[in-house]
Amino acid sequence: MDKAVKQVRVRTPATSANLGAGFDCLGLALELYMDLTVEEGEGEGLEIAATGEGSGSVPLDERNAVYQGVARAYARAGKTPGRLRLVIDSQIPLASGLGSSSAALVAGLTAGAELCGMGLDREEILRQGVAVEGHPDNVAPCVLGGIVIAALDGEEVAWARIEPPRDLAAVVAVPDFPLPTSKSRSVLPERVERRDAIFNAGRVGLLVAALQQGDYSLLRTGMQDRLHQPYRTVLIPGMEAVLTAATEAGALGAALSGAGPTALALVSGQGTEVADAMQQAWTKEGIAVRTLVLGLAAEGVQCVKER
Ligand code: HSE
Repeated sequence: MDKAVKQVRVRTPATSANLGAGFDCLGLALELYMDLTVEEGEGEGLEIAATGEGSGSVPLDERNAVYQGVARAYARAGKTPGRLRLVIDSQIPLASGLGSSSAALVAGLTAGAELCGMGLDREEILRQGVAVEGHPDNVAPCVLGGIVIAALDGEEVAWARIEPPRDLAAVVAVPDFPLPTSKSRSVLPERVERRDAIFNAGRVGLLVAALQQGDYSLLRTGMQDRLHQPYRTVLIPGMEAVLTAATEAGALGAALSGAGPTALALVSGQGTEVADAMQQAWTKEGIAVRTLVLGLAAEGVQCVKER
């Protein structure tokens, strides 16, 4: 596009949802990013270019999740976009439990709102993102950064944010098969036992307190879950062995990341030994895996209007 009249650049972090006992309500932002540039020129039409993770498989037309976010923002503003060019460069593996859909949606919503002259209203982006995703535990940390506990209260999203402790990092082990959230949600039961609800309620309270107070001795218990992980583990060969390997190698706590298949371990310090142990456990199952040691991202979505 030669005569771009407006251009915005947006960066969104990866996120790990369902943190430990926080099924559908607790997540954190990670220092792994999607970068988006959107240009709007005169006329009409859509061009999408994608590089990095998922570039060979994401649709490059109106079905694209980033574009859907842009389009939703324009519809909300009562405006019609001109000719759009989207350039997406992502470090976030697709369908892996690291919040790639939320990163795409939030990036699109934010870019669209900025192009419509509405600025970065985080509460509104959060509301819109949750309306699309149905649960807040990826969208909230993606928008707000840090560690976020969020719950739907009618139409509103009630949330509280914890500043990520500087000495805490996340080791993620990403096996080389995708697991779409829809499939991973389909195996969850409609009803849970009271004892399992109690198991999680106590632990999510402990986890939040541990993160807020820096009392890492509680993380191991707070990272345990009975509401989703046992059901989803069946879809992910080797998951239990990987989580055990992580804690045996010194992780403070370990759990399935989001809807999986990624496993996440919290560490204080380097994380190399934990990463190696997780890698070996999955390799032993014959599953190819990559591990990353990531800082927790204090910043959520960032947006710069360039012209
Ligand atoms: N809380 C969500 C789930 C996260 O477990 O399905 C994945 O989008």
